[in-house]
Amino acid sequence: MSILAIDAGTTGVTAVVVTPDGGIAAKGYQEFAQHFPKPGWVEHAPEEIWQATLEACRDALHQVDRSEITGVGITNQRETIVLWDRETLGSPRRAIVWQDRRTADICTRLRDAGHEERVAELTGLRLDPYFSGTKLMWLAEHEPHTWALVESGRYAVGTVDSYLVARMTRGLHHVTDVSNACRTLLFDLTTGDWSDELCSLFGVPRDALPELVANWGELAVTDPRSFLDLSLPIAGIAGDQQSALFGQTCFDEGDSKCTYGTGSFILTNTGSTLKRSDAGLLSTAAWRSPSGEMTYALEGAIFVTGAAVQWLRDGLQIVGSAAETAAIAATVEDTEGVVFVPALTGLGAPDWDPHARGMIIGITRGTTRAHLVRATLEAIAFEVRDVLDTLPSCGAGLASLRVDGGASANDLLCQLQADQVGLAVERPKLVETTALGAAFLAGLGTGLWSSTDDLRETWQLDRRFEPSGDRPSADAAHARWRDAVARSKGWAAV
Ligand code: G3P
Repeated sequence: MSILAIDAGTTGVTAVVVTPDGGIAAKGYQEFAQHFPKPGWVEHAPEEIWQATLEACRDALHQVDRSEITGVGITNQRETIVLWDRETLGSPRRAIVWQDRRTADICTRLRDAGHEERVAELTGLRLDPYFSGTKLMWLAEHEPHTWALVESGRYAVGTVDSYLVARMTRGLHHVTDVSNACRTLLFDLTTGDWSDELCSLFGVPRDALPELVANWGELAVTDPRSFLDLSLPIAGIAGDQQSALFGQTCFDEGDSKCTYGTGSFILTNTGSTLKRSDAGLLSTAAWRSPSGEMTYALEGAIFVTGAAVQWLRDGLQIVGSAAETAAIAATVEDTEGVVFVPALTGLGAPDWDPHARGMIIGITRGTTRAHLVRATLEAIAFEVRDVLDTLPSCGAGLASLRVDGGASANDLLCQLQADQVGLAVERPKLVETTALGAAFLAGLGTGLWSSTDDLRETWQLDRRFEPSGDRPSADAAHARWRDAVARSKGWAAV
């Protein structure tokens, strides 16, 4: 018995086959195109996400005996908003991606009209272009013909998980889970349901939204005519960051993880208590059990971390691959005063400034690419520290930090991270934790594992990075970073 887990991320789709010991028996990956129609805009073609999903799954399935697979788990980039025709399943326009900044003015408008406090109280979020609600408002205002078909009921609205379920079930199911729903600005965190008040504020017809289902259980069944000749229960769904929290077996209050992806997302399990932060963290749903028990988390969402390394590779073209950054950065002792603030799409937690932009400061004639590469890795560690520094003010503490995602393979980054947070950083053997979380959920849903205790036993440590102990130097470097962050703010509005 095994589970097929699909991780539909921001730049590509990964499919893995997970065995009962929590190992990965097969893996497929397919990238898809990023569309940047205007500065600050980011879109994906839904059909390309679907084709990439099929391709990644096909690839993984070729490596195993497919008759062994007993269920499917889905995890996905969150907040990205997709429309599709309920009949044809075709999309009338491209998806508007979480990174898209086009709704900064709508957010300002709503804030000026005095809505921020109430929105935060209901959703645990803030008025930032990151979340789905203002993206839908933008569609209603700028593409009224498309929006009329949302209002008439012909087009469905959903996040990437709902879209994939619709495609996999030939349109039979239009569902999502609380971890995705709570990122839309339309979901009431305390009632655990869509909010009529928020739907009316953002002008979204409630009927266009997906039905809410538990995070595991028999949630839908794939149609073999659409999905690779497979009729399988879709038995686990979660947004990618909550899925990684589950995949790191962070089941207890206080358990925390940091996933280094395009951005970095730090989540701390707060159990059945909805905790709030005044210091820039989001309150979010982690998951809901089939019996309706809700688990919450506090989240620090940092928009650009791995994407900054990608920019070194593709934009500046000063590194050949992300993997070589550790070696290049290690050729210098320090950055010689260079600080890079990678606010390439504004700043997320804890500073939240959609108008901030990237900045490199402290360059001298002696600056080389090694200093800049090292400054990029340091920036990632500083950004994560900024988030963790706010945790005590929300009554949440940390014993250690579990890391995962692509950049967690970078030993230098893990060490810089431990030095900055002053805590041990633990890296598991399997860093595809996001997909693993979806497999764990689907495995619980199909009975492959009977409890979270079973899952905990599958977690294996690869390496523990201890802080070097030189707090004064770490703090001085961090103070210089904070100074630079302050200078990067508001730049796009100048
Ligand atoms: O909130 C955005 C997040 O879900 C995207 O994650 O892994 O695609 O960078 P990732």
